[in-house]
Amino acid sequence: MPACVEKRHLLTATTNLNFSSAESIPVLNSSSEIVLSGLRPTGRVHLGNYFGAVRNWVALQERYNCYYFVADWHALTTDYADPQNVQQSTFDAVADWLAAGLDPQKCSIFLQSEVKEHAELHLLLSMVTPLPWLERVPSFKDQQQQLEDKDLNTYGFLGYPLLQTADIIVYRARHVPVGEDQASHLELSREIVRRFNNFYGPVFPEPQPLFTATPKVPGLDGRKMSKSYGNTIGLTASADEIRRLTMTMFTDPNRIRRNDPGNPDICNLFQFHRLFSDDQTIARVDHDCRTAQIGCVDDKKLIAERMIEALAPIRARRERIDRDPSIVWDTLRDGNRRARERAGETMEIVRKAMKIAYPLLS
Ligand code: TRP
Repeated sequence: MPACVEKRHLLTATTNLNFSSAESIPVLNSSSEIVLSGLRPTGRVHLGNYFGAVRNWVALQERYNCYYFVADWHALTTDYADPQNVQQSTFDAVADWLAAGLDPQKCSIFLQSEVKEHAELHLLLSMVTPLPWLERVPSFKDQQQQLEDKDLNTYGFLGYPLLQTADIIVYRARHVPVGEDQASHLELSREIVRRFNNFYGPVFPEPQPLFTATPKVPGLDGRKMSKSYGNTIGLTASADEIRRLTMTMFTDPNRIRRNDPGNPDICNLFQFHRLFSDDQTIARVDHDCRTAQIGCVDDKKLIAERMIEALAPIRARRERIDRDPSIVWDTLRDGNRRARERAGETMEIVRKAMKIAYPLLS
């Protein structure tokens, strides 16, 4: 864990969902510090994305200068042969971020491919990046194995974490809220920054990951909620969808008959009470499950209604956006402009440092 983010600074994992108020937010050195994060466009936001990332983004925008973006170029590193879903996924991601509470008045929301400075910096960084540094990033080999139906032995895929480095440092961002799976990418980013600053002078601060404490969100089948497992519940799913999906949820596998006592400690469904129900309900369900006073089907109905109620404001915002999709495009247009401004300033410094600034030509 990086030194600047001590335990007490972490977002506390709350048992009860509170959509309206910002929770305890990490305390950084200054409110002007830049926070940056991105997600690949994978379509509609699901509860795993929400509790794992987007909810923290919403909290951080209250205090810091935040830039959040859709990494559509990163999507192409793996989906280059089949790119037709990227645009719709980008729209759905931004629409759901707005529905979840990101406020374009408080943060800049933009699209990676519309800020060409990322590409220029990526190119320049490639000059100073030793190949073995990229080859040893664990995700390079891991993903090649996991996505074996795709040919990921490409220049672009090898450069994935270098492009990510450019995404971050082109804003001279210090804090990058990400999941633990991104640790090695941030590690590489810091190494690149040190090497760059060594050659050309102190241009970039070293970016630190901001690992926020997030609650565990199981999928319908009990594995981690993930689009690739097909076990997700959408953040803006309709009431009927939520009812239908919760009925398919795995529960305590040892509770076979209605009269068997259940064990909430190993029940997937009970995790959702921790996310959505108040303390009283959690205690009651815990007791009634262990004593077989409540059956799994009744419990599923209960949790479905709790989720529907808790997610209603988010869903309502998404419906408003779907009636007027220009909200998404206007948000991105404005965010792109703000991002270009900051990234443009950085690139002027970088070009000077690398001796490829030509004032007589400008
Ligand atoms: N690699 C990140 C992910 O898979 C997405 C990403 C791209 C990102 N560029 C970034 C995250 C810059 C943080 C900062 O989730």
